Amino acid sequence: MEINPTDRTDPTDPADRSEIVHRTVEHVRRTLEGESSGHDWWHVYRVWKNALAIAREEPADRFVVELAALLHDLSDRKLNGGDVTLGPKVAREWLAAQGVDEEILAHVCEIIADLSFKGAGVPTPMRTREGQVVQDADRLDAIGAIGIARCFAYGGHKGRLMHDPEQRPDLHASAESYYANQGTAINHFYEKLLLLAERMNTETGRRIAQGRHAFLEQFLARFYAEWEGRDGEELGLG
Ligand code: ADP
Ligand code: NI
Repeated sequence: MEINPTDRTDPTDPADRSEIVHRTVEHVRRTLEGESSGHDWWHVYRVWKNALAIAREEPADRFVVELAALLHDLSDRKLNGGDVTLGPKVAREWLAAQGVDEEILAHVCEIIADLSFKGAGVPTPMRTREGQVVQDADRLDAIGAIGIARCFAYGGHKGRLMHDPEQRPDLHASAESYYANQGTAINHFYEKLLLLAERMNTETGRRIAQGRHAFLEQFLARFYAEWEGRDGEELGLG
């Protein structure tokens, strides 16, 4: 008898679910190995862990949350030549090959398609609780100490300036203008990072975001003080 992929796994069976998650971890790790612009495997690892931490406190289907977190950056617009449809497509191919049923597969791909930040003035609502959890988890990795590190790593990767006091931040009103933006790493704080804490979907995400947001503000205060050689007098560190 020919084996149909859908016969191999039963997504309602916890053992099968855990096996699929395990295989997905290995697949994503292999695919993203060596990527250095901010979407390496370790970004995905952190989003996965953040998502599980949030999902422990919020009612959400853990299987969908884990798969969407693990697969969300397999093919990113910024690195694949600007194609926003490729991310959900490669995730769909992978999940179909694992025998994941259509309902779960469609849900995971919808989350991946809707997830990303598209500019200060562009709403990015998530339809389901699972999507809200994964979006919060991804956004937590863009703020705090790790978010700062990723922001400068991305700026370096793109050959952008770290800071230019003469360039003003731009609160982009459309995804197109946000994508075309060539601004400095510090301006990215105003164009995205500082906006994320108050846009969290879940209570748990919002709580975790608070400490990370405060750290962004402390970092900026210090950065500007050091920029002008004022840190001794201003911060009492002289
Ligand atoms: P995420 O994977 O968290 O959704 P993105 O795909 O938008 O984030 O970007 C990857 C990382 O690079 C994030 O930490 C993000 O804040 C940062 N980044 C994106 N665009 C810029 C930019 N123009 N300047 C500096 N950092 C950026
Ligand atoms: Ni991401």
